[in-house]
Amino acid sequence: MDKTEIIEGTRKFVELRLGSNSAGHDYWHVYRVWQIAKQIARNERGVDNFVLELAALLHDIADYKFHDGDTEAGPTAIRDWLKGQGVNKTVIDQVRLIVASSSYNASLEADSTPLTVEARIIHDADKLDAIGAIGIGRAFAYAGAKGRLMYDPTLNPNLHMTATEYRTSKSAAINHFYEKLLTLKDRMLTKTGREIAVKRHKILEDFLDEFLAEWDGER
Ligand code: ADP
Ligand code: NI
Repeated sequence: MDKTEIIEGTRKFVELRLGSNSAGHDYWHVYRVWQIAKQIARNERGVDNFVLELAALLHDIADYKFHDGDTEAGPTAIRDWLKGQGVNKTVIDQVRLIVASSSYNASLEADSTPLTVEARIIHDADKLDAIGAIGIGRAFAYAGAKGRLMYDPTLNPNLHMTATEYRTSKSAAINHFYEKLLTLKDRMLTKTGREIAVKRHKILEDFLDEFLAEWDGER
């Protein structure tokens, strides 16, 4: 199989596997991350596009949240799938490392700054999908799926969450903007990612401004 066929096969595999079943990590999230990753890659040097595209497609293949905290489920699924496609070990290891090093929880934990250009791109692409218009939609969809309120003015956002607190937090959609979404712009690891984040960040700020004004009947 050539690289294009492997990428298309992987896309189909992920589409079948993720479907539309989880809050925030459905196939279309992966699709968007894949698209924006390719976009960022055009402006970065030394990117291995095959490795990048595979990592984008497989980055949420077995999220720990849906495997009872099993952090090995993802790496194992990635290896099994790519091995079956005849992908060589070097590429498989690169993809696994990118996926492991680019997750939000990994970036909250010390000593895990993504190093390779592909890892930095996937990190940024994944985070960009949590801000802007799409990010707003996802935050409300997530809160709804978890049976949480969209906003609770009596709850103060927790601005200094550890990775564990983040995983177990029960906060309303709007709180999540302060706890995570508004911090993402300053966490971008590529220049292009940062430029896109600045635009998407502005969308969040304008939205919050309007939302909170409407909440108190001011507009
Ligand atoms: P990632 O894919 O970066 O690991 P998460 O799994 O933390 O992201 O979140 C997936 C999506 O759900 C994101 O768009 C995120 O903003 C949203 N989300 C996560 N936690 C909350 C929350 N407590 N309230 C609202 N939205 C949330
Ligand atoms: Ni993701």
